[in-house]
Amino acid sequence: MIVTTTELFKQAYGKYAIGAYNINNLEQTVGLFRGNLGKTKKNEDPNDNSKSAPFIIQISRGARGYTDKKLLEGMIRSADDVFGDAIFAVHLDHGTEEVCYDCIDSGFYSSVMIDASHEDFEVNIATTKRVVERAHDKGIVVEAELGQLGGVEEDVVGSVKLTDPAQAAEFIDKTGCDSLAVAIGTSHGAFKFSGKQGLHFDVLEQIQKAVPKNFPLVMHGSSSVPHEWVERINKAGGSMKDASGVDGKQYLPAAKLGVCKINIDTDGRLVWCAIHREAFRDDPANFDLRPPGKKFMEAYAEFILEKNQLLGSAGHLEEVRKAIKG
Ligand code: G3H
Ligand code: 13P
Ligand code: ZN
Repeated sequence: MIVTTTELFKQAYGKYAIGAYNINNLEQTVGLFRGNLGKTKKNEDPNDNSKSAPFIIQISRGARGYTDKKLLEGMIRSADDVFGDAIFAVHLDHGTEEVCYDCIDSGFYSSVMIDASHEDFEVNIATTKRVVERAHDKGIVVEAELGQLGGVEEDVVGSVKLTDPAQAAEFIDKTGCDSLAVAIGTSHGAFKFSGKQGLHFDVLEQIQKAVPKNFPLVMHGSSSVPHEWVERINKAGGSMKDASGVDGKQYLPAAKLGVCKINIDTDGRLVWCAIHREAFRDDPANFDLRPPGKKFMEAYAEFILEKNQLLGSAGHLEEVRKAIKG
């Protein structure tokens, strides 16, 4: 069942965060749905709801262009049918104004992100407001961004600018956006921190106090870049030195301070890379795409299940279903 992010955030606020996972292809999609339904190889009991979670499926502009945006849409609609118990939002990740309108008009997305965070404050407000008006007319909700993360965001190379709490309150008031991505020390990609930097919980706390009560905040660049996966990649011929990410133990404390959505893309790529490198290293005669594809779907489902436990969303699917159905 496709719902808006707002419906999910209402249940999660202050208790846990919803995982927002980027997908590009069929194998990621299958692993994602299986993992969120708790249907992994290690956890097959059909009556066990203790691991199933609501989630957000994120589609970037890069993903829309990788194969074809209509193919992606068709695949997710079919997954909704095949995995009928799933409850999720379909979200455009880092949209421009033009791409937001395309997604709003498609009738498929339940949520879009307008990312005008690289613009001046006033331009960001004006652009976001236009998108909010078009989206709300069709019952679609909008995530906006204020402040700048480090790292590479699609084609924009960013320099860090933490979100100003007072500006956040003004921005929400003037734009009417439904959730706000804030810069509190994370960055996109696999090389987030040098040394011991971490999340700025002090800034997050000030933002939570400044914005309207229970207003959902979003954390981008939140992959944890697990050492285990980086090591597997390096051992299988890869070259990823000094990769580091957000400590997964910081997800729940962030959720308690109003972060309802935590974006994870890089970690999924690491799982993909490790599994495929190992598969071809271990079976050099193989040229069939399905054995590594099958292993990846299993590993990714397992990875999602574990991630949802860190986010605190695992085990909340049935409660969300009840709340949504009334
Ligand atoms: O924040 C960006 C996401 O990780 C999407 O990455 O544009 O390469 O699909 P992508
Ligand atoms: P990561 O690169 O940390 O996975 O962040 C993904 C993201 O923020 C997508 O919008
Ligand atoms: Zn992002």
